[in-house]
Amino acid sequence: MRIGLLTSGGDCPGLNAVIRGAVLRGVKTFGHDFVGFRNGWRGLLDSDIMALPRTRVRGLAREGGTILGTSRTNPIDDHGGGTDNIRAILERHDIDAVIAIGGEGSLAGAKRLSDAGLPVVGVPKTIDNDLNGTDYTFGFDTAVAIATDAMDRLRTTGESHHRCMVAEVMGRHAGWIALHSGMSAGAHAVLIPEQRVSMVELCTWVREVHERGRSPLVVVAEGFIPEGHEEVLNGKGVEIDGRPRLGGVGDFVAAEIERLTGIETRGSTLGHVQRGGAPTGFDRVLATRLGMAATDLVNDRAWGQMVAMRGTEIERVDFGEALNGLKTVPQHRWDEAKALFGR
Ligand code: F6P
Repeated sequence: MRIGLLTSGGDCPGLNAVIRGAVLRGVKTFGHDFVGFRNGWRGLLDSDIMALPRTRVRGLAREGGTILGTSRTNPIDDHGGGTDNIRAILERHDIDAVIAIGGEGSLAGAKRLSDAGLPVVGVPKTIDNDLNGTDYTFGFDTAVAIATDAMDRLRTTGESHHRCMVAEVMGRHAGWIALHSGMSAGAHAVLIPEQRVSMVELCTWVREVHERGRSPLVVVAEGFIPEGHEEVLNGKGVEIDGRPRLGGVGDFVAAEIERLTGIETRGSTLGHVQRGGAPTGFDRVLATRLGMAATDLVNDRAWGQMVAMRGTEIERVDFGEALNGLKTVPQHRWDEAKALFGR
């Protein structure tokens, strides 16, 4: 078989490890051939194709980013898209199957194509860890490790200056990165989109920590909505698809803490640093296994499915299950974390 790979949506540590895993499995075990579409679905629509021989994936598991490039092109609705066009392009290039590596939006496109009878399988990808149908997505562990390291550093500055430090992390409308990095760094409060917290309650935690001689560390997820507000506070406008471009609520929280407590406070937005650079060992292993399993899906012609981590195993899941709502932080995980806040 001749298999086309593409990476779509935001980049994510581990994308290259997926590509390597898929190619090695296909070449070594089944004798398949691989090509890559450059820049996500855009490369498929424009026939922008590169060969992916085994030599091209050498040493790739440790590389950040994606050698294929990425974009947020929608394969159906954007210029040159649509199922008939894509079917013709695949036939013209003798491509028997597509492995789409992407997040919620990209997998929704993949589902629409496979629903129309096209040979598409998926690999879920997001640092946010918010996709249903899979316990963990690769990239999340790396993002948590980077955020933890940044928070450890913020804490030494906080302790030296007797300041409160606020770290804003990514995660869109799920609080997984905030919850895990906050717990890992020993934060004194963590604010996530799933839970409304008032600035008054937050300041109680901050004061309690300050009064016992510590410098408070507050972690804020970019999608957190403070009690009394209707929507995410951001100053960055909207994406092409109309969704809010997140980032900025940490500065609001830092200003409120200083205003309400009088404690000198600084905010840091960690931003895209969380998505950059080499994946952790955990993410390299997960991504490699997912890539190998995606090639197995193709080999079995299991169109319309994606690979997913369930417990410690890699399983097969229908696109529909993964796209059935966001996987958000459940109440018991918040309660568990909250027991460590403040006093
Ligand atoms: O979904 C991954 C993510 O990094 C989110 O955490 C963040 O809100 C968003 O992507 C940022 O997107 P962009 O790279 O387009 O600014």
